[in-house]
Amino acid sequence: MPQIKIFDTTLRDGEQSPGVNLNKPEKLEIARQLERMGVDRMEAGFPASSKGDFEAVKEIAKMIKNTSVTGLARTVKSDIDTAWEALKYAEEPRLHLFVATSPIHMTYKLKQSPDEVLENAVSMVRYASEKFSQVEFSAEDASRSDLTFLAQIIEKVIDAGATVINLPDTVGYTTPAEYGAMFRYIRENVPNIDKVELSCHCHNDLGLAVANSIAAVENGVTQVEGTINGIGERAGNASLEEVAVALRVRADYYPYSTGLNLEETKRTSDLIAKLTGMYVQANKAVVGRNAFQHEAGIHQDGMLKNKETYEIMTPEMVGVKADTLFLGKHSGRHAFKDRVKELGVNLSEAKVTEAFKMFKQLTDRKKEVTDDDLFTILMEIQTDT
Ligand code: KIV
Ligand code: ZN
Repeated sequence: MPQIKIFDTTLRDGEQSPGVNLNKPEKLEIARQLERMGVDRMEAGFPASSKGDFEAVKEIAKMIKNTSVTGLARTVKSDIDTAWEALKYAEEPRLHLFVATSPIHMTYKLKQSPDEVLENAVSMVRYASEKFSQVEFSAEDASRSDLTFLAQIIEKVIDAGATVINLPDTVGYTTPAEYGAMFRYIRENVPNIDKVELSCHCHNDLGLAVANSIAAVENGVTQVEGTINGIGERAGNASLEEVAVALRVRADYYPYSTGLNLEETKRTSDLIAKLTGMYVQANKAVVGRNAFQHEAGIHQDGMLKNKETYEIMTPEMVGVKADTLFLGKHSGRHAFKDRVKELGVNLSEAKVTEAFKMFKQLTDRKKEVTDDDLFTILMEIQTDT
């Protein structure tokens, strides 16, 4: 089964989330946890962007041994030199070089013609390859670029030494079918494409980042870029835990695996939420507080009979402690009785009926009934006996 490489950019694109500002010790702690989780590559920062980023990337490059460390650079000599100074300590120094290729970015942001962009990209990839053995080239805003130009620039940067070609959906605009077709086109129209790895990088402006990433994988991409909890610019990046879990849970359908230690998922998610201050929405897939909670009576009843009725993966698979059922106004008698038993209390059927009635009355006033509430009810029942 082909193994998809996971490229984590929580410390670079993720840190670009509005309002997030991680200090060096926090970045080191996240880097250690990402290594524990088994990401293949981590983008530790953008060394030329600030002294703080430079120092953090350097420390991470020195410290991390089992994950390849990379840093971002524009196609500018001084960015590449600064990145090398930070990354040269890494086990396998890797550079991530990017330039925009869409008409709108070239005209208004870079104020360069396509020929100028191409010439500069080729010479900077060549320059970077003299220092770095691994150079990833990103065609920023690839999904809104002209495909003929994209194929042309990719062919030339591969000849100049690029080892990975990344085609980002920078503004989260593409759709799964369209993004997949772009990779198919590139594979069919770039003669030297088999010399490199293909990578995807999706933003979530239309809520399609994970679906687009999986479509890319189905069309020959072997590296997926994203962040934990999906944090990042605007609506964020593809959520790596969602991509990896989708591939694992639907292994019957997708013949791809990742090397992630999925049991570390929750711990990683919690750490990042805590340090970035970006709390995870309760109903977020895989790591949300409610992701493994069942409230409706019919669902709880099904779960008590056979978990697979409503659960497509176990909480343990992603490091979530198996939870007891949420007790609220939708819970049925079966779930209620089960929890009472778990609390070590044996009631006659008549007492169950009585206690269940009190429980239902309480749910009109309280959203979640806790174990303490249950004990209060049970005490009243016992006193009555
Ligand atoms: O979204 C994007 O295009 C990026 C590039 C720098 C790769 O983050
Ligand atoms: Zn991005």
